[in-house]
Amino acid sequence: MRAHREKDVQKKIRIEGYMENIEKTVKDEQREGGDRMWGMIATWRMAAEGVEKGAGMLKAGGDAGDAIETAIREVEDFPYYKSVGYGGLPNEEMEVELDAAYMDGDTLDIGAVAAIKDYANPVSVARRLSRENVNCVLVAEGAEKFAHKEGFERKNMLTDRAKAFYRKRVQQDRAEELKPYAGHDTVGMVCLDQAGKMTAATSTSGLFMKKKGRVGDSPIAGSGFYADSKVGGASATGLGEDLMKGCISYEVVRLMKEGLHPQEACEKAVERLDAELKARRGAAGDLSLVAMDREGRWGAATNIQGFSLAVVTEAEELTVYLAKRQEDGHCTFEKASKEWMDDYMRTRMAPVE
Ligand code: GLY
Repeated sequence: MRAHREKDVQKKIRIEGYMENIEKTVKDEQREGGDRMWGMIATWRMAAEGVEKGAGMLKAGGDAGDAIETAIREVEDFPYYKSVGYGGLPNEEMEVELDAAYMDGDTLDIGAVAAIKDYANPVSVARRLSRENVNCVLVAEGAEKFAHKEGFERKNMLTDRAKAFYRKRVQQDRAEELKPYAGHDTVGMVCLDQAGKMTAATSTSGLFMKKKGRVGDSPIAGSGFYADSKVGGASATGLGEDLMKGCISYEVVRLMKEGLHPQEACEKAVERLDAELKARRGAAGDLSLVAMDREGRWGAATNIQGFSLAVVTEAEELTVYLAKRQEDGHCTFEKASKEWMDDYMRTRMAPVE
């Protein structure tokens, strides 16, 4: 009996080893062979300039980790985006607390920071943390201490413009419910390089007027982001408190693993969570998603009107799309017109009244 069991175990080990070898050979062939697909997809139009930079790196054979970090830093550094990095809107104590994350889809390494203050590029701190085996998710003072020790750039992230928005908001009704503000939210990206490596990353200042210490979905693996180079990656934007209830980015990757196209996976994940939240709680917050699979096929879905995204692949030039949710839950995509793009920037840079 015992001898039988041992034989079975040895057989299982041999079969698993054989399967692993086949998988590895297929992957190596894809990486060395003619399949040189690369791509990047990101939430919101604000990501476009960063995605353009990242795409240049990917086209030249660059690494998906370097490309996604460069792309997100570009958004973090732009002072007119009110929900990411420098210029991000503060919490109710007028402090800019930032959340960011990075995931390597080859190794499944994850790094994240939450409620970090006074550092210029939280995504870079998150990426650095992803190389740690333990202590790879740090919050507040712990994250700042790590960033200081590692020599990351310190910066006061509260701009005069953000202060003006804060003062204006204080004068308005403070009881108004907190929600993501139109056209501005987390930047979340998924990236595929020519070697077949996939990454995902996020960065956000979270909800304007949030409580000190509030953490949204963006630094939470599986909720704000997920990447697995064997399958694909996803990233979310919207109301963190609700996105977390469905571990929605992991759910999209799980659905892709079952064989769904990224578009079907995104639509299914958004529709299911939206319906569950409405049925159980009477309402659902904003839920939007982008995803790309290991072949560079992409998808996006949303339960709001006005969600935009930026995408580029080896086969498709950088395009900003406006996602339109149909009544049946399917999404259609319209290329953003020049007027829309100009108006977007004009609105972002308009004086605070
Ligand atoms: N989705 C960003 C946040 O809720 O903080």
